[in-house]
This record gives sequence, structure tokens and C-alpha cells, in this order.
Amino acid sequence: MKKTLGSLYSDYSPSFVTGASSGIGFAIARELVLRGANVLLIARDPQKLDRAAKELSSIRISETQVIKTLSCDVSDKKLTEEHLAKEVKELGIPRLVVNCAGMAYPDYFEKIPYDRFKKTMEVNLGGIWNVLQALVPEMKTRGGTIVNISSIAGFLGVFGYTAYGASKFAVFGLSEVLRAELKPSGIRVHVLCPPDTDTPQLAEEEKTKPPETRAISGHAKLFSPDDVAKALFRGLRRKRFLIIPGVSGKAIYFLNRFFPGLVHSVMDKDIKKARDQRNKEFPHG
Ligand SMILES: NC(=O)c1ccc[n+]([C@@H]2O[C@H](COP(=O)([O-])OP(=O)(O)OC[C@H]3O[C@@H](n4cnc5c(N)ncnc54)[C@H](OP(=O)(O)O)[C@@H]3O)[C@@H](O)[C@H]2O)c1
Repeated sequence: MKKTLGSLYSDYSPSFVTGASSGIGFAIARELVLRGANVLLIARDPQKLDRAAKELSSIRISETQVIKTLSCDVSDKKLTEEHLAKEVKELGIPRLVVNCAGMAYPDYFEKIPYDRFKKTMEVNLGGIWNVLQALVPEMKTRGGTIVNISSIAGFLGVFGYTAYGASKFAVFGLSEVLRAELKPSGIRVHVLCPPDTDTPQLAEEEKTKPPETRAISGHAKLFSPDDVAKALFRGLRRKRFLIIPGVSGKAIYFLNRFFPGLVHSVMDKDIKKARDQRNKEFPHG
């Protein structure tokens, strides 16, 4: 029987979304709420979570729809496991888990302190690991869907993103292995690789982004979090493992896969242009 859009979304109730108080995670939670799912919003700052929950409660489609918040640092394994065990008891086993919590600290490799690298790995990769270790045993009893958020920088080495890129490549790898491991238990695993998206994280990145990074990403169209959320649900409907919003992101993926030399030479030209410009402006370094 053909599934309607409504029934597809009710397959996603309850949904647990990390990083749901802001940006892409919030837009994904919004899509789910608009389609009637019960949603658990997970992030650290309780005030941001409250604001997000209030906004989402105002667009609920029924009085019985549950929008709940959980203040939790997903990089803390013990806390995450304890909290999620309680939430499963209260809300039920999630049918959809979206791992969107993340951070980025771009800079030249030698200027990124080890602690920043470690934190980036702990949040972007460790956070997904912790959430899934807490939830997968439960999800295996009835199946479900998992979405991990990587990035274009999760399959393409982008200047300035050593720490972030390493974490997001790892998210891609983890997702590929989990796809194979969890399929027999009826759990679908997807990886979403958004291009530059207009969120507080991207604004924060601007503070430390080297000019070379700006020169490379300057070509790309800036997406809205809503564009990314819509592309995710299109990808889920089409049962795509790898979901890349937008035509240029998809083109970069295929070009980099089959013609990496071409992609490198385009990026290297941009990097050289940015360096020449900087040397002209600051000839003494
Ligand atoms: N924006 C882009 O251009 C872009 C492109 C590709 C991929 N992405 C990825 O998309 C995801 C969402 O990014 P965004 O741009 O939407 O960023 P954002 O608006 O800054 O949102 C990040 C969310 O993650 C939460 N968070 C951060 N660290 C956390 C932690 N340790 N534990 C729990 N929650 C945490 C934040 O809330 P609290 O700070 O209150 O915890 C917030 O809700 C990230 O994984 C990011 O790497 C973004």
C-alpha cells in the first residue's frame, strides 16, 4: 500500500533530536512537529531549549502532541545514557533519532589547540556514539531510523577544517558501518551532509575562519536551515543513505569521488588567490 506523507511522518513519532534548540536541528524538529510527531529536543542550554519548545508548541497540530526538552551534553557518556533511559521510559522507544548536535572551530592546523580538537571529536563523533549506544539496543526491538549529521567537509578536505573535517569524516564512516550492521534489525541509517547553512554555528566560525577557507566557501550558495530540513525528509522518503542538499553539493561529491585531481586544482587556485591577496595587503606577514 502506498504511504501518505502523514503516515510517513507518524512513523517518526517519537523522535529524539540532538542540537534541536537552534539552526538545522531546530528546523528538523519543526518539520516533525508540523507533521504531528512527538519530539524530544536535546541540547545543553536550558533557556535556548525552552524558547525552542515554546515556538514548536505553538505550531503543534494536536493538543496531545508532546514537545519535551532534555538539557544534556551529549559528549558526557554517563549522563547521556542515564537521561535517555529515562526519556525512553517516558516517551517510548524513538522511531527516529537525529544526531545534529555539533560544533566547529576552523583555523590553520597549527593554530588549533589540542583541547579544541579533542572537544570537537568528543561532541561531533563521541556525542553520536553516546546517543546511539544508549538507544540502539532499544531500537533493535522494533526498528526505526537514524540520521547522523556530517557535512560537505565530511567527504571533502576543506582548508581550515582539520579538526572539524576529521570529526565529520568519522561521522560518515561510523554511519556507513552502522548502516550495514543495523539493517538486519530493521533500523535505517542515513547520513546528511549539508553545505554552508545560515545558522549561529556558521556565524561563530566566521571569527576564526582563515581567508583561504572563505575563498573556497565563497562560491557556495548559503542554504537556510529549512532548506536543509526539507532536503532531509525528501531523502528519507527516497530511502537515500547519503543525503546532500542542493545540486552543487551533490556535484562536488561526485566530482571529488571520480575526479579528485580536478577538485583539488580548483581549490588550490582559490587558496593561492586568497594568499596572494593577503600578501599584497600585509607584505610583512
Ligand atoms: N551551519 C552549517 O553551515 C553546517 C554545515 C554542515 C554541517 N553542519 C552541522 O549541522 C549540525 C547543526 O549545526 P548548526 O549549524 O545548526 O549549529 P547551531 O545552530 O549552532 O546548533 C547547534 C546545536 O547543537 C547543540 N549542541 C552543541 N554542542 C552540544 C553538546 N555538547 N551537547 C548537546 N547539544 C549540543 C546546540 O545547543 P547548546 O549549545 O545549548 O548545547 C545547538 O542546539 C552540526 O553537527 C554541524 O556541524 C552545519
